[in-house]
Amino acid sequence: MTEEIKKGLQGVVVDETKVSEVMPEINSLTYRGYTVQELCEKCSFEEVAYLVLNGELPNKNELKKFKKIEKKNRSISKYLEKIIKNLPKNSNPMDVARTAVSIMGLEDKETQDNSQKANMRKAVRILSKTPTAIAAFFRSRRGKKIIKPKKKLTFSENFFHMCFGKVPKAEIIRAFDVSLILYAEHSFNVSTFTARTITSSLSDIHGAITGAIASLKGSLHGGANEAVMDMMHEIKKPKNAKKWILNALNKKKLIMGFGHRVYRSGDSRVPTMKKYFIKVAKIKKDEKFSKIYEIVETEMIKKKNIYPNVDYPTGPTYHLMGFDNDFFTPIFVMARITGWSAHIIEQHGSNKLIRPLSKYSGQEYRKVKFIDKR
Ligand code: COA
Repeated sequence: MTEEIKKGLQGVVVDETKVSEVMPEINSLTYRGYTVQELCEKCSFEEVAYLVLNGELPNKNELKKFKKIEKKNRSISKYLEKIIKNLPKNSNPMDVARTAVSIMGLEDKETQDNSQKANMRKAVRILSKTPTAIAAFFRSRRGKKIIKPKKKLTFSENFFHMCFGKVPKAEIIRAFDVSLILYAEHSFNVSTFTARTITSSLSDIHGAITGAIASLKGSLHGGANEAVMDMMHEIKKPKNAKKWILNALNKKKLIMGFGHRVYRSGDSRVPTMKKYFIKVAKIKKDEKFSKIYEIVETEMIKKKNIYPNVDYPTGPTYHLMGFDNDFFTPIFVMARITGWSAHIIEQHGSNKLIRPLSKYSGQEYRKVKFIDKR
């Protein structure tokens, strides 16, 4: 047989989705028909989470109910808290997030129920508890006391409270909320496709999200926001930036936070996130990284015609907010749980086992020869 191999499934349409659309022609990303730019301007992360999961923006009562359930489910079990406290301090926080969701699956009374209603309830529980687990490790590996979630705070405020014991200025919270909105969903990217693939064998939502977190960890996907900050630290000062990037390009290095499989002339999420990154840099009175940002971006476009993706501005934004580098991708997880869950529910709704073919390129057909074992 001579089938054409589509490595990386590039250009292959594998299914339909009603969750979001990446529109490279107009450089836009829409969730359930709304552009992310407009959602960032007009909505909170909670409203967008509801939209991604349910298909419509919530009315006042629906939002109130959704927020109440999200707040009610924030606590993690004593058992999970104890495990997190006892994990090796040098564990990768993405592995901690993955383990935490896996344990939540052991504890959830509805794990084996894959009905749409049960999946929706489990999705909200995972969304509520995962930030608590991530913040618990953020504190415990620094030798600090774990801080319990507070019901009167929003999703974003509560995360800062659990990590730092205080809630920052409203502008910082807004920038964080916007980053979560931008990270909430992105069609058939690798982690979402992983979640859908796991689901397609009729496995459960905790397993699918655990697998998706493992996929997001990689530096070609979510891990890029951390790699961006490593690069900025290596550049150190704006005056080093041009030389550094030209040298890296000469050496054919991959520049993290640039390029995209679908967008070829810019990621639609970047202008919004860049605006908030610049705001945060001004508030923090630390504009070193925003200057480096501009120089590297200009050279990448000029020399390679490659544009930044959303991980480019989020990395330095999270750094300025006080998060450790290796917590940037777990923050991405907190937001993307909404998109993954919506896709898992959609996959269960019209399932077909995902099972592609491969072209064999190994040893030719042969027989086991007699082996003298004496
Ligand atoms: N830095 C330098 N060169 C890059 C680049 C980058 N970030 N992204 C793409 N290129 C180059 C490739 O080397 C390739 O050049 P070539 O044709 O001379 O070999 C060309 O652009 C096409 O790239 P390709 O690897 O085919 O694109 P892809 O669709 O397979 O990859 C990414 C998309 C996102 C995996 C890729 O751009 C990348 O690795 N970016 C860095 C990681 C990152 O930021 N990931 C987050 C994604 S949201």
